Amino acid sequence: MRIDIISVVPKLMESFFAHSILKRGQEAGHVEVVLHDLRDYSLSKQRQVDDYAFGGGAGMVMSIEPIARCIRHLQSERSYDEIIYMTPDGDTFNQQTANYLSLQGNLLFLCGHYKGVDQRVRDMFVTKEISIGDYVLSGGELAAAVCADAIIRLIPGVLNDETSALTDSFQDNLLAPPVYTRPAEFEGIAVPEVLLSGHEAKINEWRFEQSVERTRNKRPDLFKKTGL
Ligand code: ADE
Repeated sequence: MRIDIISVVPKLMESFFAHSILKRGQEAGHVEVVLHDLRDYSLSKQRQVDDYAFGGGAGMVMSIEPIARCIRHLQSERSYDEIIYMTPDGDTFNQQTANYLSLQGNLLFLCGHYKGVDQRVRDMFVTKEISIGDYVLSGGELAAAVCADAIIRLIPGVLNDETSALTDSFQDNLLAPPVYTRPAEFEGIAVPEVLLSGHEAKINEWRFEQSVERTRNKRPDLFKKTGL
């Protein structure tokens, strides 16, 4: 998979992709993440990428020309399965969308800033609009990083333990069960006996029951979707 990200502050995202699982995923050749500075595609000497909104009002709008130049340049090198605009008025991101996007070959993320992009960018180029929640960030960069992280860890081979992503919270609309590690007892509080039993079927049964209980208590909305 290849993920291209267009941003006015690509430096903001560099370190995020240079560590841990995301770094390993790239080094092992499972994914390539390429950051693009939108200002490199500006038509002005000052590398301007925004302008005043027609009709007035507070806040600048990201201009279509640099974005169109950047997207068309990238499209001349490969075709994209989705061109994704990160925006608070997009569809709310969830595990299902992460699963779908992890199966694609080439993804292009466009990070919004200021009052957002000229509507014609959305009409002409964007195939998917994603929000990571009902709050407004100062730019789409963190949101794109969140999505890229959720997508990349699902690509087969990126996680050491292949089954690990499949047992995540949300994969079957259930939250993950509690987990424990050594010591088996801490300040008088013991780990549930069954986890020390070595009895795999019983452990799986206990984990499933815990997942169901957790979901029922913490996320009744999600629990309804399980059909349990
Ligand atoms: N840009 C600003 N806020 C955002 C959000 N909540 N989701 C995606 N992109 C954004």
